[in-house]
Formats: sequence, structure tokens, C-alpha cells
Amino acid sequence: MSRSAHPAGPRHADVLPEGHYAAPPVDLNALDPKVWAQTVTRDEDGVVTVGGVDVKTLAEEVGTPAYVLDEEDFRARARAWRTAFGHDADVFYAGKAFLSRAVVRWLDEEGLNLDVCSGGELATALSAGLAPDRIAFHGNNKTPAEIRRAVEAGVGRIVLDSFQEIVRVAHLARELGKRQRVQIRVTVGVEAHTHEFIATAHEDQKFGIPLAGGQAAEAVRRALQLDSLDVIGIHSHIGSQIFDMSGFEVAAHRVVGLLKDIRDEHGVELPEIDLGGGLGIAYTSEDDPREPHEIAKALTEIVTRECEAARLRTPRISVEPGRAIAGPTAFTLYEVGTVKPLEGLRTYVSVDGGMSDNIRTALYDAEYSVALVSRTSDAEPMLVRVVGKHCESGDIVVKDAFLPADLAPGDLIAVPATGAYCRSMASNYNHALRPPVVAVREGEARVIVRRETEEDLLRLDVG
Ligand code: LLP
Repeated sequence: MSRSAHPAGPRHADVLPEGHYAAPPVDLNALDPKVWAQTVTRDEDGVVTVGGVDVKTLAEEVGTPAYVLDEEDFRARARAWRTAFGHDADVFYAGKAFLSRAVVRWLDEEGLNLDVCSGGELATALSAGLAPDRIAFHGNNKTPAEIRRAVEAGVGRIVLDSFQEIVRVAHLARELGKRQRVQIRVTVGVEAHTHEFIATAHEDQKFGIPLAGGQAAEAVRRALQLDSLDVIGIHSHIGSQIFDMSGFEVAAHRVVGLLKDIRDEHGVELPEIDLGGGLGIAYTSEDDPREPHEIAKALTEIVTRECEAARLRTPRISVEPGRAIAGPTAFTLYEVGTVKPLEGLRTYVSVDGGMSDNIRTALYDAEYSVALVSRTSDAEPMLVRVVGKHCESGDIVVKDAFLPADLAPGDLIAVPATGAYCRSMASNYNHALRPPVVAVREGEARVIVRRETEEDLLRLDVG
């Protein structure tokens, strides 16, 4: 098992050797429902539509590049998580995947809570009117100002990440005359990515307090002594883009072990555990993600079994899916600018965006799919690399894919599964203007985050 492979990178169990590509898909016009948002289909002219709106109309109305988000799909996925976990558990959508005020309102309406990890995310949630007690506040280095704002607002929980933070939050809460509900984030020595997990010695990272050496138990002991803190439970987050539940199994086993130690030493049974996020989605047809109901069943069974063995009351479980809700619901719509065949190598297809709207390929070696969406084509498949317009050769959006050989400038292509960690990680590199997010539903398109303008860029440049 490799320890260096990145969470969100290729499925490292089966990466193809250099220069060897998977066979082209049988039908280049097909849209695999695994990787495309639920309402995506082609109309009778072969133009892709989503939420009842076709991509040519979208490109005319909002321009390209644009993130096109299927609102019905987002809501359905949020609801599926909520329903799967039922009333005895809580689902906190991880806002870092993608957050806007419209999204906060959808989550609110679908009965989900929200995990925020910065003052900016907190401000977005509060300004959209989400009840503060439905917000969990994360982060390994929350500033005193952020903590103060969260405590004042009355967030439902702050997830404490270090010994210093226990004292800092306790102090600020006392100053504000409040008793703050908190969880302690622990590192359980499990690192889970894609199809593999490593169950030992992954304490060497910045988040949480290690279980090893009794440190997490000591943190809980200290927090329990502070009157301004109400310690409601333990938090663990083990990784990203996970398909295999065994990492959660080990994590749950270790977290329950800690609950047992706390009960034995302090006579306190903490009522909640949070198992974090990290559930994988399909970026390509090769990926096989688990459904929320399977995940809920597996996690609930693991925790119940472990608690029975430890003679503990089963705590209330919470989870924090981000990618699994937002990821599959959006695609990035680009216009092809140039098509450059490199003899004996591949064809470079340049689009009007790039690493500024999707850094994941450059950063994590992430894999994506791509399709021609403004028309169908019967042309032969050609091996392409979809690249952006940035001044950098690593500016790759889709490393290896097949598109029809008659692809031409002006065609619209789309990269599916870009709903998570694309707009939220977008940059202004080369003074690119960050693309809008357009929500489509029942034949209507609504811009929920507008495109940046040159005025936006210049407003920050005070000269
Ligand atoms: N909860 C906590 C405490 C987290 O740190 C994260 C993600 C989540 C929940 C949500 O994880 P999800 O279900 O979305 O995998 N930028 C990377 C992903 C970083 C994830 C950081 N934490 C990427 O593009 O793949």
C-alpha cells in the first residue's frame, strides 16, 4: 500500500502504465449516469440538457466557462443522506466542497446541518439565515475572532482541534457568559483514500489530537473540567474519496475505545460521535461509489456493535459528507478554443478555463471524464488532453480522454463531477475571472454565484 498517493488522486491500485490508455468508450455520445448529474440527457438534436435547459442556451446566457449545477440532483442527494441516517443521526454537509447562500437554503429545506471551517463559510451560512445551532465549526487554527463570532452566534458545536484551542474556546465562552457545546477531534491512526486504507501510524499530520499515548483522553479530561465547555462527543475524519468502509470500521472501533476509557475514568458517557466525511464519488465510469443508505447501514452497524461490546449506550452519530452531495451535481461547461494534434502523441484541446476553475488535476493528479455536449458526432474517437488557457504546461483539466475526431473550435464540451472542490478551490491565477455557478431546475437557469468581472479584480487592487 502506498502512503504517498494523494486522497483524491488516481485509483492507485490500478493506474495504467505510462503510454497505455484504456480503450475508447463504445459510444462517445453516451452520458454515463454514474458521472453526470441526474437530470442530464440529450435532446432530439443531440444537445445536452440539464434541469430542462440546454447547454447552448446556457452558454449564450451566462457564457463559458461556467459551473452548471443540477439543483434537483443536489437536493435529492442531500435528502438521500438525510433519509438514510434517519432521526437518530445528523448529517452535516461539509461546506468546503461548495458553499453559497442558495446552497445553504437548500440544505435547510432538506433538513441537513452544515459544517463550516472558516469565518467566511460561517458568515455565508449566517447570512443565508441558517439556524446557528445547526452549524458545526471546524478548523485546526480558528482565530480568536472567528471563535468569538461562532460562540456569540450560538453555533451548535465547535470541533476542538488542539490543547490550546480547548483553553481558547473555554476562555472566550466564559468571557461571553456562554456554555459552548464542543466535540474533540481525534486522530485515530487511520488514513483512508480511495480503495485502500492504512490502519497504523498516521498521526503525522496537522489535524486533531492523537489517540496514541493517551493524548486524546487527556484532552477530554481537561475539557470536562472547564465549566464553559459542554463536551458532547468525539470527532474523527479519516480521509477523502473513500470507497472501502474498512477504514471507518477501524476508526469507529478506536473512537468507541476512547468513549469506554472516558466512561471508566470519569464516569461520563459522551452522547455523540462524528465520523466525518470522505465518501467517494464517480469521476469516471471506473469508479463505483457506495449509496448513502449502504453507508448509513454500515456505519450504524459498526458503531452499535462496538458499543455493545464495550457495554456503552450507542451514541448519536453524525457524518459530514461534502463531495458525495455536491460533487456529482455539477459539470463545468467550456468552449473549445483550439484543437492541436501532436503527431504520434495526442491531441491537445484548449478550453476557455483551466487550472483556475479546476485545480484538482494539477494538484492531485485527479481523473475526470469529458464529453462533447453541444452536438453528437459519429466521428472516430481521438485521444485528447483537455488543457486550459493558463501560462503553465501543468494546466491540465482532463489528462487522458477520448473525444470525437471532428471536434472543432466553438464546440462546447463539459467535464462532469465538478460540483465539489472546484469553485471552492478556484483562483484568479493569471487574473482569470472565476466562473459563475448556474443552478438549473425545471427549465429555469438561475445564477447563484455570478461570474467575476474585471471590476471585481480591480476593486481589490488599491493602486
Ligand atoms: N469533515 C471534515 C472534518 C473534513 O476535513 C472534510 C474534508 C469533510 C468533512 C468533507 O469531506 P468529503 O466528504 O467532501 O470528502 N480538496 C480536496 C478534498 C479536501 C477535503 C478536506 N476535508 C479535494 O479536492 O479532493
